[in-house]
Order: sequence, then structure tokens, then C-alpha cells
Amino acid sequence: MQDKIRIAVLCSGGGTNFQALLNAQEAGLIPDGEVVLAVCDHAGAFVLERAKRAGVPAAVFDRNEIPDRAEREAKILALLQRERIGLAVFAGFMTILSEKFTSAFQGRAVNIHPALLPSFGGRGMYGLHVHEAVLKAGVKVTGATVHYVTDVCDGGPIIAQRAVEVKEGDTPLVLQKRVMREAEWVILPEAVEEVCKKLKGASYGK
Ligand code: GAR
Repeated sequence: MQDKIRIAVLCSGGGTNFQALLNAQEAGLIPDGEVVLAVCDHAGAFVLERAKRAGVPAAVFDRNEIPDRAEREAKILALLQRERIGLAVFAGFMTILSEKFTSAFQGRAVNIHPALLPSFGGRGMYGLHVHEAVLKAGVKVTGATVHYVTDVCDGGPIIAQRAVEVKEGDTPLVLQKRVMREAEWVILPEAVEEVCKKLKGASYGK
């Protein structure tokens, strides 16, 4: 049987989803994969501190230092290929990647989105903007979605979703925290294990 799937987590900010993956791994909940790399496009991001504490190697491709998106993407893709990454997990990564990347990682890249797709997704819908839009629309239920990454922004096949209640008086920040706690940190590790298991099975016997 093939070794564990080598996982890279791509983040731009606080990295709470990255932490949720590490915690799940520590608890033995991701037996078919292993987080071996963090990739970040923002030099000051707290996720880098989390990676350091956990002893996970981190690579930074800072947006100010490498302002050209295509150049940043080419460097990231080269690194993932060099590191024999089997699954790329987008966890709050704010650089949208081109078809070149998505086709190279077809079926081997997943993204966590803080709403129930296909609602409240697409370009411009990230972080707190999503929760602001949810509150403005007045919906009573929101949640999180894990989906495969394709060249359609937030449009790839859905792997997992979990609903979260919107409560009276919620602010975007309060709602964001609830969605993270009740949905994102739960379904992301589960979906990552599900995909790793599938990838391992698919390569078995090749
Ligand atoms: C998470 O809420 C994630 O779902 C969202 O960014 C946050 C990152 O937080 N991603 C998007 O909005 C992508 N469209 P984290 O760095 O603490 O994991």
C-alpha cells in the first residue's frame, strides 16, 4: 500500500483551519495523509508561527515581494511538485490560481469556503465579506463547504457541507467564529481524510 498522501496547506492569514488539520492529525483522525508543508503568500501571517511551533516547514511567497500573480503561482506549483505533494489544501488562501495550477492538481486540491455553496461564493467572496453578505441577505442558515478546486472560483464539486444557524444580533465577526467552530474545523479534517483515502486507493496497484 502507498505511503501517506503528502499534504500541503496553503494559507494567507491566521491559519485556524491549518491548526484544525494539525490537531486532527495529532488525534489520529487523518491516518491516510500527513501535513508536510505550509505555503503562505503573506510574510506577516500568524499561520507561519503556528507552522513553526508544530515543526512543519513553511514556504513564503509574499505578495509584495512577488507582485506578479503568475510568477508567484509558478513558484508555488514548482515547489509542490518538487515536494511530491499529493493533496493541496486551500485554507484561507487569498491568491486565486489559474487553470495551469488547477489542471496540474485536478482532483488533488480542495478548498474550504465559509458558506453553503453555491450561495455566497465567487470572486470577492472571502473572509468577513462572506459573512457580511450572509447577514445582509437575511438568511437564517449558513455554514461551510469543502470542495475540489477547479478553474471556476468556488465552483468545483462539493465534498462536504455543514449548516450553522444565523442568530439574531450576529455581527460578521461573531458569525465567522461560529461558522469556523461549528463547521469549518470539523468538516475540513474529515474531508481531507476522505480525499486522502480515495487518492491512496486510486494509486494502489498502479
Ligand atoms: C476561513 O474562514 C476560510 O473559510 C476563509 O478564510 C478563513 C481563513 O481563516 N476562506 C475563504 O473565504 C475563501 N474564499 P484561517 O486562516 O483562520 O483558517
